[in-house]
Amino acid sequence: MTQRVPRPFDPLDWPAEDIADPYPIYRHYRENDPVHRGRSSLDGRARWYVFRYDDVTRVLTHPHYGHHAVPLLAGIPPECETLWRLVGNWLVFMDPPRHGQLRSLLVGSFSTRVVAGLRPRVAEIARDLIADVGRRPTLDLIEEFAAPLPILVISELLGVHEGSREWLRERAVSLQEASSGRARDYARAEAAATELIDFFRWEARRRRHDPAADLITALVKAGECGSVTEDEVTATCVHLLTAGHETTTNLIGKAVLALLRNPAVLAELRADPELLPSTVDELVRYDCPVQMVTRWAYRDDVLGGQDIREGDSVVLVLGSANRDPLVFPEPDELRPRGRSSRHCGFGGGVHRCLGSALARAEAEIAIAVLFECLPGLHLTDKPVHFAEDMVFHGPRHLVLGTSGG
Ligand code: HEM
Repeated sequence: MTQRVPRPFDPLDWPAEDIADPYPIYRHYRENDPVHRGRSSLDGRARWYVFRYDDVTRVLTHPHYGHHAVPLLAGIPPECETLWRLVGNWLVFMDPPRHGQLRSLLVGSFSTRVVAGLRPRVAEIARDLIADVGRRPTLDLIEEFAAPLPILVISELLGVHEGSREWLRERAVSLQEASSGRARDYARAEAAATELIDFFRWEARRRRHDPAADLITALVKAGECGSVTEDEVTATCVHLLTAGHETTTNLIGKAVLALLRNPAVLAELRADPELLPSTVDELVRYDCPVQMVTRWAYRDDVLGGQDIREGDSVVLVLGSANRDPLVFPEPDELRPRGRSSRHCGFGGGVHRCLGSALARAEAEIAIAVLFECLPGLHLTDKPVHFAEDMVFHGPRHLVLGTSGG
């Protein structure tokens, strides 16, 4: 089958079928135009799309490329002042040395040891979410399971009251849309930013008088030592809320979809649950939840034979790098055994995902609980609708049969 190859490469314009399966398009560019010149809709400067693994990892780890938020913010209307201030204080948009200082305050809360301690609670949350599902013939995996699970987990880590979680999720989605450049309604994102800042400011104030064993208290204490400003404390809470939820929702949704579409892999996993960690790692490579990240060139450079100029933006297509056959032989096959784990589904360099251990644990537990509690889980003839987003990539709805009812 010949695939329509859009030129110039502009994922904001793609039809639903390309969003659901971008891999043939990536392959075309990887083979024919691996550092493709596009144009930024913001300032008319060059915007480069990078498709090969070696070029992607070079930019991720090279100090001549940075991630400060200012160019991104240029897409946000100037009247959205709160949004500007909030996103500008996010770790992911900071450059060294401030980036390293703030990150070092957070790494302990996301260590493998802390995550191991959280596992029983994550399993409990997962079981609760599907407790009654087996009695119904279908479930929408995203709405009923993959979306609520991560928000419940991250709220618990932050120490946020149970009743606020749905409220937080709605606002986090508005912000995520603004930070990935797909917001249609910036006024809504600005309102969400204001409400979330007020919410976490109040939570932080409460922890000053009544500390708890949670992440907000840890940040407040760091603030009292002068290591973070008050704005950074609230921005970091909001950042963790947004960074940790839609990404993990998409991982769980796409992982279950891929396993049901690859019954031999699922059967192997059922026969040998020890394969779960390597299966989740392979699922992140195979169809990664964050398909693209952006950097700005701080100096002139030559990349894949192309002249990159200072100030150009460079979009690293992680989803394409993870299917590069030079690193992952037969890359379009889901193959949990014997794969290199060098994929860049969690990014790379100084901004490598802070929550990767937590995300992996959530996905492992989600898969184990789902297939254990709903052994007859299966695909239906209902079409899978993907969100119109090639950065945070995943199905908006995924209706599965439970064999119950
Ligand atoms: C950074 C992916 C889950 C927190 C990143 C980056 C990627 C990524 C690709 C790098 C962004 C860039 O370089 O521009 C994912 C995926 C996840 C996931 C695929 C789930 C499957 C989480 C979770 C948390 C989290 C659960 C925390 C609760 C962060 C933070 C950063 C980050 C704070 C910024 C790190 C820094 O700039 O130093 N993530 N993430 N992520 N992620 Fe994740």
